[in-house]
Amino acid sequence: MATDPSDTEVIIRPAHPRDAAGIADCLDAVARERLWLTATEGYGIHSTDNFIRANLAVGNPHFVAVLRTSVVIGWCDVIPPRPGPEFAHVGQLGIGILDGWRGMGVGRALMNTTLEACAARGFSRIELEVYAHNTRAIALYQSLGFVQEGRRIGARILDGVHQDMILMARRSPDAPAIP
Ligand SMILES: CC(C)(COP(=O)(O)OP(=O)(O)OC[C@H]1O[C@@H](n2cnc3c(N)ncnc32)[C@H](O)[C@@H]1OP(=O)(O)O)[C@@H](O)C(=O)NCCC(=O)NCCS
Repeated sequence: MATDPSDTEVIIRPAHPRDAAGIADCLDAVARERLWLTATEGYGIHSTDNFIRANLAVGNPHFVAVLRTSVVIGWCDVIPPRPGPEFAHVGQLGIGILDGWRGMGVGRALMNTTLEACAARGFSRIELEVYAHNTRAIALYQSLGFVQEGRRIGARILDGVHQDMILMARRSPDAPAIP
């Protein structure tokens, strides 16, 4: 338990290749909870390093929440889910906060920073998938203007339990209205 209050200060900043191990560890821990992410284990440092560098190279929003000690306690990234210029306005968002740091505003801060960067990157439609039981994440997304667009019923069977996946998206306010 930290005794110096400044030890618990959380900084939101762009991801850097030197965060690869921290992001990999953080994602692995969240994945191994087997509740929130599609992955049930992380991707390793090498793959994470490649992912960060690829995002930096093209300006995809990729942020981390870190402690003063540079320990990574959360990440948020947005990548184009489909190739081609006709989908260049679309980004797929992923986020996770380490257990023990949830419910303190870190996720909202990461989302706000990342969504600002999405606008700058030209992503006017942000998509994500979230398990229906993830009420905390859904509440956060709804509060930021994401709407439910669909539901994959029984999308995953994990440990014998059928889980639905909710498809959500947020279009920027200046995107053309749907007739
Ligand atoms: C979902 C997640 C990113 C939210 O981040 P967080 O830091 O825990 O959330 P915040 O403290 O910023 O709270 C944001 C909102 O979430 C909701 N929320 C927070 N704690 C909650 C709780 N215990 N129960 C229900 N809703 C809750 C509230 O709507 C809150 O809004 P508020 O700021 O008006 O209170 C984080 O909990 C997490 O990483 N969970 C595990 C991984 C995961 O679910 N990733 C997303 C996969 S789609």
